Amino acid sequence: MTLRYQHFITPHGTVEFPKVVRGEGVYIWDSTGRRLLDGSSGAISVNVGHAHPRVLDAMRDQMGKIIYAHSMRWDNDPNERLAARLERMSDWGYGAAFFVSGGSEANEAAIKLARQVAVSRGQDSRYKIVSRIPSYHGATTALLGITGDPDYAAAYRPMFVDMPKVDVPMIYRRPAGETAEDVVDRCLSQLEDTILREGPETVLAFMIEPVGGVSTGALVSPASYSTRVRQVCDRYGVMLIYDEIMSGAGRTGKFLAGHHWPDCRPDIVTLAKGVSGSYAPLGAVLASADMVSDVRRAGGFKHGHTYSANPVSCAASDMVLRVVEDDGLMARATSLGAIIKARLEAMKGRSTIIGDVRGLGLHMAVEIVADNSSKEPFPAAMRAAERIGMLCRDHGLLLFSRRTAGGSFGEWLMICPPLTINEAEIEEMLTSFEAGLHEFEREAAGTALKATA
Ligand SMILES: Cc1ncc(COP(=O)(O)O)c(C=O)c1O
Repeated sequence: MTLRYQHFITPHGTVEFPKVVRGEGVYIWDSTGRRLLDGSSGAISVNVGHAHPRVLDAMRDQMGKIIYAHSMRWDNDPNERLAARLERMSDWGYGAAFFVSGGSEANEAAIKLARQVAVSRGQDSRYKIVSRIPSYHGATTALLGITGDPDYAAAYRPMFVDMPKVDVPMIYRRPAGETAEDVVDRCLSQLEDTILREGPETVLAFMIEPVGGVSTGALVSPASYSTRVRQVCDRYGVMLIYDEIMSGAGRTGKFLAGHHWPDCRPDIVTLAKGVSGSYAPLGAVLASADMVSDVRRAGGFKHGHTYSANPVSCAASDMVLRVVEDDGLMARATSLGAIIKARLEAMKGRSTIIGDVRGLGLHMAVEIVADNSSKEPFPAAMRAAERIGMLCRDHGLLLFSRRTAGGSFGEWLMICPPLTINEAEIEEMLTSFEAGLHEFEREAAGTALKATA
């Protein structure tokens, strides 16, 4: 028996996972020959679709040259090429890149880099990472203390240090009477109060997803938020870390989601998922060369993994990003994202259970509610978004659903197809989505009738 995910047994029954056999473009085929449209790009990561010939060729080419050489002893061309490409595409003067095998490893490396920079600058007292709730920053033990999802972390609580948390500006679920700017004011005051309460000399960094991932359902904060976050961080010498593991690599229509608000430059950026399009495990930590020089002078970065800067992963990622640039996929994310958003908004007019449609580019989510006039969520036991995901699958569409912190912030489905999706495939995706949604509406109405009978 293989140990698998927690959702294996759901209130809707035991989910037998289909066996995946093949992928091409936006489609995946299972072992029965069934074709499914990958509407959430795997884990919002298969950015250039499956089996892209240029990426496969680049990987084969690299595998024929060298598949592995330890990064503590060797440098390699794909590593250098990718670092240079990321420096250019991220456009904020990140002259140093450190490559690992995924998102959690990237965030671990980022907080350790921040700590070593502080120590190398004589700021040994700084070690706390302030983060937000809800959020997701990874599954390792240290990151459980930073990830803002008490349910997810509960079983491991004695094993990690719980770091200070502040609220995410959840605009859709703001208290009655508050404007979006009021929410920003409240969140920023809370951030400043938290830094002051903890003691600014102990606070190392503030880690955020600049555009929310699955944990907030593609939350986009008002434009003033990031500018003011940067000001608060600067006031207290706190580093700002952008977790762009899901939002980065072009998905929102710009290379970094943070580029939508260019006057806020984070000190460190982490990338994973879409940066290698999921062709090979890869995560990246970007920082400015002067930060890394300080660490080098103090004896070097005391951190690493067997697969750091793996040449095959770096070659895959370098080609994925070339495809993103050569095929204009960021502009495509913006234009196709606008089409999908308009269609989802229209769908909202035909459904009482779409509460909110949000996101940027092809990074979108639909929040599901029992009644969109009151924003009342469905009872937790119904696991509504998950159920809609299952019904969509019956209609040939794969979608990622989420209820962070046991649903206390709502629930949603991520609409994040590969950036290579075409208009006919968008039509198919939205038709299947609406079919799954309406089927759930009928099911939910039936449940309500039974409950009142
Ligand atoms: C925003 C964000 N940070 C970190 C992670 C962790 O990445 P990984 O699953 O590759 O460890 C994820 C994964 O979903 C994520 O969405």
